[in-house]
Amino acid sequence: MRRRSVLILKKILGVKVPVRQEVLLRMPKGSICAEIGVYKGDFSEMILEITKPRRLHLIDPWIYQSDATYQQALYGGASKGQAEMDAIYDHVCKRFKKELASGRIVIHRMPSDVAADYFPNNYFDWIYIDGNHLYEYVKKDLELSYPKVKPGGWITGDDYGVKGWWNNGVQRAVDEFAQNQKLKLEIIENQFIVYKPES
Ligand SMILES: C[S@@+](CC[C@H](N)C(=O)[O-])C[C@H]1O[C@@H](n2cnc3c(N)ncnc32)[C@H](O)[C@@H]1O
Repeated sequence: MRRRSVLILKKILGVKVPVRQEVLLRMPKGSICAEIGVYKGDFSEMILEITKPRRLHLIDPWIYQSDATYQQALYGGASKGQAEMDAIYDHVCKRFKKELASGRIVIHRMPSDVAADYFPNNYFDWIYIDGNHLYEYVKKDLELSYPKVKPGGWITGDDYGVKGWWNNGVQRAVDEFAQNQKLKLEIIENQFIVYKPES
């Protein structure tokens, strides 16, 4: 049985579904969406399987950060350097070769603030934020993503409430954004969903 059907069956039977998959079940099928921060593409594959997007934009610079701030980051001290990031990028290209050829997946190898300029306003049904978790970066991702999402769409993301090397930057930025913009915010364990109103 396909992953989406299995998850729906589990929900009907009252079996707990892993939280990130729960979030994906709430997203519409056949949508235009983006994942900011892709790494090896594990969650991208879940997005493909569960939400069957019309188009999925994958945004990540795959750049090694040598600064001490990133000592514990997957793309900093916890990695072996730029050669490893290049290898991960190649792996993602191979992993989604078929979808890249069909145009169902588009990779943007660049930081999310640069990628934002490539999309018109009200283009995405939803965007998943899981890039640089430092407060200033999450704040910028939220601010730049918001106009790009259609009215009635969602900005969702990972690691809400997780302190990490980013000093709880995700939660601080998300809470502040939702409060300032007066937006409905839902938290499911460590996942956040910000609702953009219809009008
Ligand atoms: C936690 S990993 C993403 C994991 C992935 N979403 C998953 O669940 O499988 C964070 C990723 O964010 C990327 N990243 C760092 N700075 C970024 C930026 N400014 N814009 C977009 N992605 C960024 C890193 O290269 C890294 O691959």
